[in-house]
Amino acid sequence: MSRITASQKKEARLTIASSAPDETFELGREIGARATGGDVIGLIGPLGAGKTQLVKGLARGLGVLDPYINSPTFVLVHPYQGRLPFYHLDLFRIEKETAWLSEYIEMEGVCAVEWADRGLLYLPEDRLTVKMRYAGGDRREITLTTSAPHFTEWIEELKGSYRWKIVAH
Ligand SMILES: Nc1ncnc2c1ncn2[C@@H]1O[C@H](COP(=O)(O)OP(=O)(O)OP(=O)(O)O)[C@@H](O)[C@H]1O
Ligand SMILES: [Mg+2]
Repeated sequence: MSRITASQKKEARLTIASSAPDETFELGREIGARATGGDVIGLIGPLGAGKTQLVKGLARGLGVLDPYINSPTFVLVHPYQGRLPFYHLDLFRIEKETAWLSEYIEMEGVCAVEWADRGLLYLPEDRLTVKMRYAGGDRREITLTTSAPHFTEWIEELKGSYRWKIVAH
């Protein structure tokens, strides 16, 4: 049997539109509800795109009761406890990719990493990547990409659902 390399792994991708902060929150909540221990969710997108808004939903989906989630811009990491430990990281201010990141990544909790593009070296390949773009006014286009089996399965399900405004897959 031949080895399966990363490039042969099944990758799922889907772009959906969000028209309001609540819709972005709701998408985050769905991700949080499906997250399992060790998952890493990497968020990429310009200032104000809605990364933290999505993380608020994620925390809710993980059962975090603390209602106050904001960008951990100065301390880099905010830990929370839901049905799993939840670490909210923000790499906006890191100057170079540093190994401390992997301390969190290797833990059994769930990590949401804002500005994930500044720490790719230390993020696992099978993360769920959430890329957010401005699409005029309050509209955002959100591309989900993953090779993690449970998120891949979920994205395949979303493709057949009427709940989301699908832009591309
Ligand atoms: N469709 C939308 N989805 C998410 N946020 C939206 C949307 N429409 C408007 N907004 C607003 O955009 C802002 C997004 O702010 P947020 O802090 O989530 O961005 P961010 O990407 O985390 O920025 P930063 O890079 O500064 O951390 C909020 O004020 C939110 O109300
Ligand atoms: Mg933020």
